[in-house]
Amino acid sequence: MGVAVIGYSFMGRAHSNAWRNVAAFYPDVAPVRMQTLVGRDGTRVEQAAADLGWAGVATDWREVIERDDIDIVDVCTPGHLHAEVALAALAAGKHVLVEKPLANSVAECEALVAAAAAARGRALLGFNYRRVPALALARELVGEGRIGTVQQARLSYLQDWLSDPQAPMTWRLRRESAGSGVLGDLGSHAVDQLHYLLGEHVTHASGTLRTFVPERPGPHGTETVTVDDAAWATLHTDSGVVASLEVSRVATGRKNALTVELFGTSGSLRFDLERLNELVLTQAGDARTSGPTTIMVTEPEHPYLKAWWPAGHVLGWDHTFTSQAADFLRAIAADEPVHATFEDGLAAQRVLEAIETSHAAGGLLTETGN
Ligand SMILES: NC(=O)c1ccc[n+]([C@@H]2O[C@H](COP(=O)([O-])OP(=O)(O)OC[C@H]3O[C@@H](n4cnc5c(N)ncnc54)[C@H](O)[C@@H]3O)[C@@H](O)[C@H]2O)c1
Repeated sequence: MGVAVIGYSFMGRAHSNAWRNVAAFYPDVAPVRMQTLVGRDGTRVEQAAADLGWAGVATDWREVIERDDIDIVDVCTPGHLHAEVALAALAAGKHVLVEKPLANSVAECEALVAAAAAARGRALLGFNYRRVPALALARELVGEGRIGTVQQARLSYLQDWLSDPQAPMTWRLRRESAGSGVLGDLGSHAVDQLHYLLGEHVTHASGTLRTFVPERPGPHGTETVTVDDAAWATLHTDSGVVASLEVSRVATGRKNALTVELFGTSGSLRFDLERLNELVLTQAGDARTSGPTTIMVTEPEHPYLKAWWPAGHVLGWDHTFTSQAADFLRAIAADEPVHATFEDGLAAQRVLEAIETSHAAGGLLTETGN
């Protein structure tokens, strides 16, 4: 399998690390050739390719997706390019991995779902937190009924890299490139976790958005921020679970804090990405002994752990991308489905757009279409 990664910055580096290591830690998958790294600036992409271990570089993704030596196209660009690149790559018969969010609008996501259904290649959406062992374990425990029927959930994803009003403009702060602000960036992960952990969809949402810093220094002077800095929502699922969602990139002091809490009729689960090897389980029972139990999710019996280190040797954020690459390669070899699917991306995007619609209508409860 020859791989091309489009984009060589943050996610381009994280995915390069995964492609480099995947066959070493998951020996059941076929080794991949790190064929081509793609970026717009020839000099910078050459340097990145040398640092990250790529055989070659290119500056035009259109030329790369047509090549016979490329089997997998991995899209690590800003959101406005996801649909265009992925649609072209699927049409060219390639297997396609797209970073989250799937695209910047429901309409683009629908086009991608249709294209993936008709394509020869496999399609995977990079909701990498599905490969955090503790979250995969949480899904298993919910499915086994260990906390009873889930009634209530809390999700938050808080960062603070935009707390400083002088932090400069980036593509993430422009609607035309990012689609939305923290909602699409971090809210997409949180909504997908709710869908993934419960195995059901959000059908209704009400929301509020805020842009606390309306202007920021741009490359050509002051620029208007056209997306949200923070968002809040109440989410309702098909079975009647009610969840609160809070996302922010101006939450001073919080670095990368994705927290998930599920409350069931006979127990609860709690997860914090900043302590990603731990899952806190509380099960109702004997009042003297039924307090919260912190499970160290580092045993070979836990999801994904067999591939890595002996029990108790903790994993990190980067392992999720390697495990994701392994699942993708296995699905390609077996010609079997792999999650997160493009449908999962569409389902998440519908919730995000419903939150925006609700905000515009003063917080009105809005159908998501899921
Ligand atoms: N899964 C996660 O945890 C996670 C974390 C961060 C970002 N992301 C997602 O990954 C994607 C990329 O984000 P990032 O943080 O890597 O952004 P980034 O700004 O660090 O990198 C974007 C890259 O895209 C390249 N690019 C832009 N236009 C291009 C074009 N026309 N042709 C080729 N390359 C082009 C840029 O040169 C750059 O290398 C986004 O969709 C983002 O939401 C996911």
